[in-house]
Amino acid sequence: MSRRKKIYEGKAKVLYEGPEPGTLIQYFKDDATAFNAEKHAIIEGKGVLNNRISEFIMTNLNAIGVPTHFIRRLNMREQLIREVEIIPLEVVVRNIAAGSISKRLGIPEGELLPRSIVEFYFKNDGLGDPIVAEEHITAFNWATTQEIDDIMALALRINDYLSGLFAGVGIRLVDFKLEFGRLYEGDMVRTVLADEVSPDSCRLWDARTNNKLDKDRFRQDLGGVSEAYAEVAQRLGIFKDPRSAFVEG
Ligand SMILES: Nc1ncnc2c1ncn2[C@@H]1O[C@H](COP(=O)(O)OP(=O)(O)OP(=O)(O)O)[C@@H](O)[C@H]1O
Ligand SMILES: [Mg+2]
Repeated sequence: MSRRKKIYEGKAKVLYEGPEPGTLIQYFKDDATAFNAEKHAIIEGKGVLNNRISEFIMTNLNAIGVPTHFIRRLNMREQLIREVEIIPLEVVVRNIAAGSISKRLGIPEGELLPRSIVEFYFKNDGLGDPIVAEEHITAFNWATTQEIDDIMALALRINDYLSGLFAGVGIRLVDFKLEFGRLYEGDMVRTVLADEVSPDSCRLWDARTNNKLDKDRFRQDLGGVSEAYAEVAQRLGIFKDPRSAFVEG
């Protein structure tokens, strides 16, 4: 691990050079940050859980024909992925009002939205990831109109599939954030899902109690963060013994 070339270290993950050109190794850390990294903590076991949950979700999405960067999991904290050119947008899909849409538009948290809403944020930590319109995205060449169309279609398919997947295990998919990238194959470019899909990037509420099973437990100091993530993994059937999530291997 130490001999590998580190490509990028982010807040929650590290990217290393992969074994073949065009591949990377994504390492999931236990670090949690919120409010543009003003708040930071180590949540023991989080990286292991997110690696497994993201693997599970990406594998299922691949199986229904949603192209993703995921190749295979390597170990408890690492997965092999295809290197993509990240499109500098955070794509948020919302089903129920929570977080910034409640704050910005005054829609009470927990209110069912009239339809699923897709929002774009400019991925720029220095600016605090501001919300942007398609006008800005195309004017500043962050993505083409075709890419925006592809992203929209993929985001809504992912939302339909994941809403059903989570509903089946008694969890409401309130909202989630996606990142997409450009995958170059010869002279072809494809838009694929990248980064991670995990309780760090989704709001997940227990369908019966509305108990939060996601990173809001950290943001709001509710405690039991890794236990909530383990609960999500267990309900998805990822671990036979949920305690094994806390044993490194
Ligand atoms: N397949 C991929 N190819 C290249 N880069 C990727 C891929 N998947 C994810 N990334 C990028 O890898 C980084 C993952 O690290 P992490 O999520 O910790 O970053 P971050 O602290 O959230 O910072 P950032 O603002 O860059 O997202 C992100 O910058 C993400 O955009
Ligand atoms: Mg990130």
